[in-house]
Amino acid sequence: MTATFFLFWVTAASCQDGRNGESGNAARGKAAIERHACTACHAIPNIRGSGGNVGPPLGRMGERSYIAGELPNTQANMVRWLRNPPAVVPHTAMPNLGIDETEAKDMAAFLATLK
Ligand code: HEC
Repeated sequence: MTATFFLFWVTAASCQDGRNGESGNAARGKAAIERHACTACHAIPNIRGSGGNVGPPLGRMGERSYIAGELPNTQANMVRWLRNPPAVVPHTAMPNLGIDETEAKDMAAFLATLK
């Protein structure tokens, strides 16, 4: 019941386009985040097995001004970050995880729901 409601909520949230009109699907993004084990390094609300502490916790990422202290937090910049973090911050500990464009858009849509 609660899970059904949550899925409805993220799906509804994903219908609002990203800040510059590129949309992704938050429910698919949540699944992609679980599949890619982002939680090995991050604590992420509502994600199974969450608790890593290598990178910053991603709660309230939807309200953060900057991504990695470097890029303004827009949908397009989040996609850019997720696809290749070292291309943005050369010595970052977050590796290039081989995330494709669609997955990155979906993940960005999910992260934007974290407020
Ligand atoms: C090996 C550890 C590691 C993995 C795996 C990892 N990250 Fe990160 N991530 C980091 C680190 C470290 C930072 C901080 C980067 C910096 O500021 O240079 C970071 C930063 C971020 C940020 C920016 C946070 C902020 O406060 O600005 C986001 C968003 C993010 N990661 C999402 C993800 C997602 C989604 C995944 C899975 C696809 C993932 N990360 C996988 C280590 C990781």
